[in-house]
Amino acid sequence: MAILNNIKLKYFRNFKNYEISFDRKLNIFFGKNGCGKTNILEAISLIAKGRGIRNTNITNLIKKKEDNFLINSNLEIQNNLFDIKIFTENKNNKYKKVITINDDLSKDSLEFLNESISYLIFLPEMERLFQASPSFRRNFLDRLIFSGKNDYNRLINKYKYTLLERNKILQNNSFDYNWLNQIEKEICFLGLEIYQLRNNHLNSINKILNFLKNEHKFQFQLEMKLLDKNFNISLNFEKYLKILHDSRISDKQFGGTKIGPHRSDIVAIIDNDFEASLLSTGQQKTVVLMILLAQCYHLINYKNIQPILLFDEIVSHLDNFNRQLLLNMINKFEIQFFLTGTDKDLFSFVSTNSQFYNINAT
Ligand SMILES: Nc1ncnc2c1ncn2[C@@H]1O[C@H](COP(=O)(O)OP(=O)(O)O)[C@@H](O)[C@H]1O
Ligand SMILES: [Mg+2]
Repeated sequence: MAILNNIKLKYFRNFKNYEISFDRKLNIFFGKNGCGKTNILEAISLIAKGRGIRNTNITNLIKKKEDNFLINSNLEIQNNLFDIKIFTENKNNKYKKVITINDDLSKDSLEFLNESISYLIFLPEMERLFQASPSFRRNFLDRLIFSGKNDYNRLINKYKYTLLERNKILQNNSFDYNWLNQIEKEICFLGLEIYQLRNNHLNSINKILNFLKNEHKFQFQLEMKLLDKNFNISLNFEKYLKILHDSRISDKQFGGTKIGPHRSDIVAIIDNDFEASLLSTGQQKTVVLMILLAQCYHLINYKNIQPILLFDEIVSHLDNFNRQLLLNMINKFEIQFFLTGTDKDLFSFVSTNSQFYNINAT
């Protein structure tokens, strides 16, 4: 289990030199718009592989007019302390994120860090999860899967690469049939794995939601499903391969592969009756919180992973029920929480001891 003891930000976003020590349980950042609350969550989320919660270009992280940033954190993993540093390196005019663990740059260290830390994230745009594009929902689901399976991104990236490769071959007027056959097999292999992982994950979240329903007095029943023209339980390698083979000409015209997990959507059905997109904004936030609660339960109980929760602007639009849901999470799980909101008063319902930080960039 990983716990962040502190973070020091140097020339990171709007921070010149800033340090905060964290509580092991509940940390609440408040302050006016633009003071840097999301930037702090972003800095925390960068302590892992990847580009952080904003998925931004690394150069945007450097404070304007400066040359580099430094995030420094004291991280506790299974009672051992590690000194984490994150900064950028410019190689042939390309900026790269560098992480060191006790000043060690090796791949093994980074793997160790990645295996030890996992984030569960709420961002304000997730309130509109069911109004957003299918790709937003796919990414949402993929992040959940990734938080319990840290090689999942590699699978997604490999799959995307094979799609690009197939398209390149199709656009080339003289196909190399051997290469095309090979790539299509690879697509089926990877695509099936993604379908299965996503489908299994949704099933697992559905089961947990059902099971938690009484304990948390959920107002409705929620069931999530993959919506996909190509995928059903009986889809197998041969069928998938044949579909790809038969769609070469139309895919060539279309300029890409029309079927596969990169085209899936996720629907949430309420009370076996209607889609979550019909709910009010506040209710949709409830649905997202329910999913995150179930995900937290999944990670802790089935994966033996203690996630760190980063919940940005969590208290806006929270009705009493949503507040209770958030409180239940705080009381139920012995994990580290980082919450943000514009006003301290918005968090007065949180009774547990918590550390409040009035953020003022310096
Ligand atoms: N690279 C950067 N250099 C300097 N300031 C930045 C940089 N990137 C973002 N900012 C500033 O950070 C502020 C936004 O911080 P943010 O954490 O999103 O605020 P909030 O507290 O509302 O979440 C804005 O004022 C923005 O101009
Ligand atoms: Mg913000």
